Amino acid sequence: MGRKSVKSQIKQQRMKEEKKQLAASTAAVKKANALEDPLADFPVFNSYNKNGLVVRLICARVKDLMPEVVQWILDLMKRNMESVYNQCEWGWNGEKKEEEMTEDAAWYLVAFSSEGNQPVAFSHFRFDIDFGFEVLYVYELQIEPEHQRKGLGKFMAQVLELMAFKNNMRKVVLTVLKHNKAALDFYHSLKYVIDETCPEDNFEEQFCYLILSKTNKNFKPPAAVEK
Ligand SMILES: CC(C)(COP(=O)(O)OP(=O)(O)OC[C@H]1O[C@@H](n2cnc3c(N)ncnc32)[C@H](O)[C@@H]1OP(=O)(O)O)[C@@H](O)C(=O)NCCC(=O)NCCS
Repeated sequence: MGRKSVKSQIKQQRMKEEKKQLAASTAAVKKANALEDPLADFPVFNSYNKNGLVVRLICARVKDLMPEVVQWILDLMKRNMESVYNQCEWGWNGEKKEEEMTEDAAWYLVAFSSEGNQPVAFSHFRFDIDFGFEVLYVYELQIEPEHQRKGLGKFMAQVLELMAFKNNMRKVVLTVLKHNKAALDFYHSLKYVIDETCPEDNFEEQFCYLILSKTNKNFKPPAAVEK
């Protein structure tokens, strides 16, 4: 049997490196998902008191939330987003959304008003592998309409970034509908940019959404895991 060409040796080496990198990224995601409470490292960020809004934050897996809180989450999601989804090809499918939002992998950051202990905002997020890299993916960020524009969304987005970067995720990623102008303005104000994985419109296909991200400037490549 002849010797492998230099080209195929380089290809094989590159595939080996990619495999090692994926194993290391997967290990980082597994470690983050094994945490009891990703917010525990940031006691200063457990509460928000500004613009007449006083709230405390908790972070938990969906299975550890009180059933009435999960019901409120699903209800706010529908109230805030049903018409936005229905304005594009996504359409609103309550059952499918509920399924996604209650999957075991779902983490929630929930803000409760100090007055009355009512939930007022939530983020559904996950530590996950996205296009081969470790990320914190923000599935949802939803604030009760009466509490919007008081800085809480910005505060919660910052807390999500802290939890992502503390756990050495490469970036925070999210999907936003192109016609959700308020959300686009919000994420642009927080310096989120178009992610490299965002699909581009072409003659054959147009996309109703954008993928935005913020990179972890202090990301340290984890030690490679041999497979
Ligand atoms: C989008 C959302 C999460 C923003 O949270 P919020 O608490 O209302 O926003 P903040 O008060 O933290 O806003 C921070 C900055 O974002 C920008 N921004 C927020 N809402 C905006 C809006 N409706 N129009 C224009 N800019 C807006 C502003 O620059 C704002 O700073 P400023 O108030 O000092 O001008 C919230 O309004 C919401 O829940 N909307 C409905 C659900 C939704 O669309 N979620 C996003 C899905 S991807």
